[in-house]
Amino acid sequence: MPSKTDVAPWWRHAVIYQIYIRSFADGNGDGLGDIAGIRSRLPYLADLGVDAIWITPWYRSPMADGGYDVADFREIAPEFGTLSEAERLIEETHKHGLRIILDIVPNHTSDQHRWFLNALAAEPGSPQRARYWFRPGRGPAGEEPPNNWLSVFGGPAWTRLHEDNGRPGEWYLHLFAPQQPDLNWTNPEVRAEFEAILRFWFDRGIDGFRIDVAHGLAKHPLLPDINVRSAQFPPGLVEAAEMRGEAVAQHPHWDREDIHEIFRQWRWMADSYAATPQGARMFVAEAWRIRTGGLAQYLRMDELHSAFNFDFLKCPWDADKLRTTIDTHLAMLAQVGAPATWVLSSHDVTRPVTRYGLSGDWTQLRVGLDAGLVDIELGSRRARAAALLMLALPGAAYLYQGEELGLPEVDDLPTDILQDPIWERSGHQIRGRDGCRVPLPWSDTLPALGFSTRKPWLPQPPQWSTLSVESQTHNLGSMLTLYREALRLRRTYSAFLDGHLRWVEAPSRVMAFKRGKDVMCLVNFATDPTPLPAYDKVLLASGRLDGHMLPPDTAIWLQCKE
Ligand code: NOJ
Ligand code: CA
Repeated sequence: MPSKTDVAPWWRHAVIYQIYIRSFADGNGDGLGDIAGIRSRLPYLADLGVDAIWITPWYRSPMADGGYDVADFREIAPEFGTLSEAERLIEETHKHGLRIILDIVPNHTSDQHRWFLNALAAEPGSPQRARYWFRPGRGPAGEEPPNNWLSVFGGPAWTRLHEDNGRPGEWYLHLFAPQQPDLNWTNPEVRAEFEAILRFWFDRGIDGFRIDVAHGLAKHPLLPDINVRSAQFPPGLVEAAEMRGEAVAQHPHWDREDIHEIFRQWRWMADSYAATPQGARMFVAEAWRIRTGGLAQYLRMDELHSAFNFDFLKCPWDADKLRTTIDTHLAMLAQVGAPATWVLSSHDVTRPVTRYGLSGDWTQLRVGLDAGLVDIELGSRRARAAALLMLALPGAAYLYQGEELGLPEVDDLPTDILQDPIWERSGHQIRGRDGCRVPLPWSDTLPALGFSTRKPWLPQPPQWSTLSVESQTHNLGSMLTLYREALRLRRTYSAFLDGHLRWVEAPSRVMAFKRGKDVMCLVNFATDPTPLPAYDKVLLASGRLDGHMLPPDTAIWLQCKE
């Protein structure tokens, strides 16, 4: 088991690898990734040099939203394995010197969760319905939804029931798909149940949780209409609009004050494990729609440990904008003493190699892409530089499976096999997130590129054989080699553990900063090569140097004198 005697708690500077379980590795040959697949690839992850893994939901689920619709938080989905396999995975992960965190989905359950099934069978106004948000409709016959809230996946956030007598009845709230009814966090049973679930997994050795939709748990008790611009966007585009920062203060269902009390309780519980051999447990929040600067409130000493910095992920490839984003974030976190948590990629956004290769505005993170507009070579070059930038910043970083292989977005999946609910809910306007969820290529020769012995649940582009782990392992110029080397250096040089960064003067459109006394990171965003400063040793470069010059879209780590 990883030691708990590190100088700073592990999560303050860890690199955590996100496993999207159905696409990582298939251990039983049914075309779907599973726990057995993860167990077989633990040596790969340890060798890559990450500190921990995060596994996306593996609980029993009808999979209406890739497992983010949970039917039972204490059971493993049979397609992924069994509870005893999960326990063995936890043990083996620790034996490999890695930590393991899970995904908790507290904003909603599946519509197949026993609580929701009981609610459907119960009367309006019953205690069973009080665990969710059931309301009569508006209009003379209740035919209008109770308010104008929209689902993040498109369409209204309300679905109407047919009661036992077949007559239309109450409506229920779902900020995501109709199969994901929102829980009512003012209900004490909901709070008690989630505390018990967290303990269930902590007691099995889980080191922490990524909290899904952490900013969404509290709703305005009166469920008022949203009287803001975001409500005027056509269905399906609300999320894109809000991602562009058009969410407002005092939103009735995002980032409300009541959330903090829930997380204070969770923190208390995670800290209560301090005396166990593994030490206290941790949380990382997924919170997109937070008022400017508001993230610090989630990261106060007695609340959550960390939260993804999505501004960094959304920031265009621009030295000034990135520097401002980094500075703003670090200054905000300094108020509460929290570490930064950087991320460039996830199962929800267009892969960086494609994003950075897109011309125009790619701040809408999951548009239907026109492949003609993507310059993959440019995108790969920038993604390599972005990796060195991110891994040189103070704090923790998350890698999404396949990022270390430089996988591009698969933007031409046939529409009849798309599984993301966004595709249907947006009226076929937005393809959704399947393109970043295509199964990993492990081998250049085996069927399904070594992912499975059967047809994978989403087809892999045949040209991915050259991007497979096998192809890249001994290729010194590959993305995988770059990540391995960067992670090795991050572990070797103590400068990376220091929580600070010092900017160094640099030419326009060049970013330069120092970590500790002797490590410098330089990134060239300009269109011309830029001269390197005086240095003792090149630790790592994201591309080939041009003599003493750093080419455009390239990053370098240097060892320099103080
Ligand atoms: C965020 C998750 O990352 C995403 O995949 C999911 O669809 C939504 N939350 C709803 O749970
Ligand atoms: Ca399988």
